[in-house]
Amino acid sequence: MSSFTRMDVQAGGGPYPVVVGHGVSAALTRWLDAAGLTGRVTVVSSPTVWSAQGRRIARALKGRMAEPMLVPDGERSKTMQTVGRIHNALVESHADRSSVIVAVGGGVLGDMAGFAAATYLRGVRVAHVPTTLMAQVDSAVGGKTGVNHPLGKNLIGAFHAPRLVVADPLLLDTLPRRQFRAGLYEVIKYGAIATPSLLEHVAQGAGSAFADTPELLDAVVAESCRIKAAIVSGDEREAGPRRVLNFGHTLGHALESATAYRRLLHGEAVGYGMLAAVALGERRGVTQPGTATAIRAAIEHLGPLPSIRDLSAREVARGAAHDKKVLAGRLHFVAVTVLGHTHELTDVTTRELVTALRALGLQP
Ligand SMILES: NC(=O)c1ccc[n+]([C@@H]2O[C@H](COP(=O)([O-])OP(=O)(O)OC[C@H]3O[C@@H](n4cnc5c(N)ncnc54)[C@H](O)[C@@H]3O)[C@@H](O)[C@H]2O)c1
Ligand SMILES: [Zn+2]
Repeated sequence: MSSFTRMDVQAGGGPYPVVVGHGVSAALTRWLDAAGLTGRVTVVSSPTVWSAQGRRIARALKGRMAEPMLVPDGERSKTMQTVGRIHNALVESHADRSSVIVAVGGGVLGDMAGFAAATYLRGVRVAHVPTTLMAQVDSAVGGKTGVNHPLGKNLIGAFHAPRLVVADPLLLDTLPRRQFRAGLYEVIKYGAIATPSLLEHVAQGAGSAFADTPELLDAVVAESCRIKAAIVSGDEREAGPRRVLNFGHTLGHALESATAYRRLLHGEAVGYGMLAAVALGERRGVTQPGTATAIRAAIEHLGPLPSIRDLSAREVARGAAHDKKVLAGRLHFVAVTVLGHTHELTDVTTRELVTALRALGLQP
């Protein structure tokens, strides 16, 4: 392990550390001990993740873990049935209140293992070792856990803060390129809402520079975690400030749902969602022209997004109006004013959403 960044996230059950840096997972046992997580360790992972990165994790946990519990981690496996399988294995292995679940995987695996930890014995401790860029910069921090329902994504869940997050960008060396790029859209989001320099860092790293310059990737992941940590520390349950994290997500979620979660990765949908949010903000005169240009350029620099020109803007907009995040019948829409600053719009009409989606090339 060379250098690393450590920060604390404030949560109801007390603060928890987030450690970021190339190679930090090799000292996993030490981080667990330092966080007071000395109980029996149960590793939950997926066959894909474990065959890619299991050797590193097993070496790091030598003597602390038995066989890992492997469950499928595709978005379509993010169900109560899979969580039930984790519960079964916990019961069979006599896991108790002092047990520690170590979730090794992407956002799907982390959300399911986190939910299993939230509900088994009314709550056991969980540590996250995220293995996708998306999970490192977003889902591992903040304590949202859950699964999908046939009628909607993430409809079943609980807030259950982890006791430790170990984000090691070295574990991304086996991640498919498309998945890596999907995580970069989420980093662009942090650049747009909080730290503009992230936009340049993403552009710099997008070729092969992230692989060649580990410090650059470490810095990007650490800054993203810092932003998320700061925001969720002040608003664990999304009463207010946490909503800025939804920039690009209102229409992003609607696009994912309109394509049945098959055509777009979450990050790609957020890429489109941000483009639409910029178009809407510009028409309102809320988003400054230079800001709109910078966000668009950052997204376009990552290359073409999968085509969605066949979708109907009206249908997607209708879907957004039914999102679970509509509060008291009002859609809360996050717009960026100038880079690093946001403004929440609560009076966005379906018509404006349609116009913004049409700007992406969608059918009427
Ligand atoms: N809890 C939160 O706050 C929060 C935030 C954002 C997203 N999410 C959730 O996260 C999920 C998306 O997560 P994701 O983008 O990480 O996708 P994912 O978990 O589906 O992982 C993507 C794919 O990469 C594979 N993979 C993971 N790590 C790998 C590695 N190191 N090497 C090779 N392959 C690897 C997985 O097996 C999977 O096939 C969604 O379900 C979303 O709802 C949750
Ligand atoms: Zn997201």
